[in-house]
Amino acid sequence: MPDNRFHTEEMNMRKTRLLTALAVAAALAVPATDALAQAAGKLKVGFMLPYTGTFAALGTAIENGFRLYVNEQGGKLGGREIEFVKVDDESEPSKGADNVNKLIKRDNVDVVVGTVHSGVAMAMAKVAKETGTLLVIPNAGAVAITGPMCAQNIFRTSFSNWQPGYAMGVVAAERGHKKVMTITWKYAAGDESVGGFKEGFEKGGGQVIKDLTLPFPNVEFQALLTEIAAAKPDAVYTFFAGGGAVKFVKDYAAAGLNKTIPLYGAGFLTDGTLEAQGDAAQGLLTTLHYGDGLTLAKDKAFRAAYSAAYKMQPDVYAVGGYDAAQLLGIGLTAVKGDMAKKADLYKAMAAAKIDSPRGAFTLGKNHDPVQDIYLRKVEGKENKVVGIAVKALADPGRGCTM
Ligand code: BEZ
Repeated sequence: MPDNRFHTEEMNMRKTRLLTALAVAAALAVPATDALAQAAGKLKVGFMLPYTGTFAALGTAIENGFRLYVNEQGGKLGGREIEFVKVDDESEPSKGADNVNKLIKRDNVDVVVGTVHSGVAMAMAKVAKETGTLLVIPNAGAVAITGPMCAQNIFRTSFSNWQPGYAMGVVAAERGHKKVMTITWKYAAGDESVGGFKEGFEKGGGQVIKDLTLPFPNVEFQALLTEIAAAKPDAVYTFFAGGGAVKFVKDYAAAGLNKTIPLYGAGFLTDGTLEAQGDAAQGLLTTLHYGDGLTLAKDKAFRAAYSAAYKMQPDVYAVGGYDAAQLLGIGLTAVKGDMAKKADLYKAMAAAKIDSPRGAFTLGKNHDPVQDIYLRKVEGKENKVVGIAVKALADPGRGCTM
């Protein structure tokens, strides 16, 4: 339920600020729109990201990427100075609604940016819909958010879990595999990534013979690896990310399976993880909307700026954060920083062409990126792009009625 008392106070404060701004603009003969943006004060961005647990590094990379873009704009978007507040969501869906309400009701943020974990993101999307708060999702791929839960005020700059999975299904079928096993965490992202893989693979004539799962964020893989070794499928498809992905790739190799049964994954399996995975990851093929070795000027500039600012290389999560800031910037520029012009803000964001380090992309009607999904191969410390698995792939947006 929206807090009406807060709403009225806020409206009165805004009205006063606007009237003052117009008076000042008239007196100084400055354009009224610039004066309005200045009078509106700082724009509050609420980061709701994982800063602890298996996805901690992913949350930090997203925040880094977002801040980098804002800093490149002199600390302002659409003429408004940006102020940040943050909440650690711990990748814990049961705390999702409370955590996002802290940002919206306690901290009065203008926009929420988050998160990584699909289960947490679904709780956030529900609250965003109920309160009408702008939500920009820089990672979590929950299909429902750009499906049945889609809304004018919810945007995603990353992917749907279906997209990399589907692309890898197409590739695995093209590589001649017939019978594949899947293994993942039992939650929305794992299920949907495997669902996408199945769709692409079966379309190409393949068959998924068994789905193996374990609860998130469990990393006791041994029993399941023994089952894979006994079943001897043609290949294995997997979705793991962050700390869990590091452990899975190492365990797969330690069990000797990397010598006999090819392992394919959504690219999170090896993104931001190669330093820790070392030799165990060499040669792995994955699909994702970002990778190493792209020859785009935008990517080169982004990498140089990111590594100068943070003394490390960016990964796919940093790109999601950077592009979330770009998307918000496009919307705010269109309304000259006036968040009250919601219809115009959302219209500009929905129509945005984002000059991303991954390559320029637009959003589908469901506000999910329409983008090339690359095929990548691990070589040393890099996810080298070796081709485009599927060009301009759009999430089907099933159930989205916007
Ligand atoms: C997800 O939960 O949607 C997700 C988490 C980590 C990487 C990719 C997707």
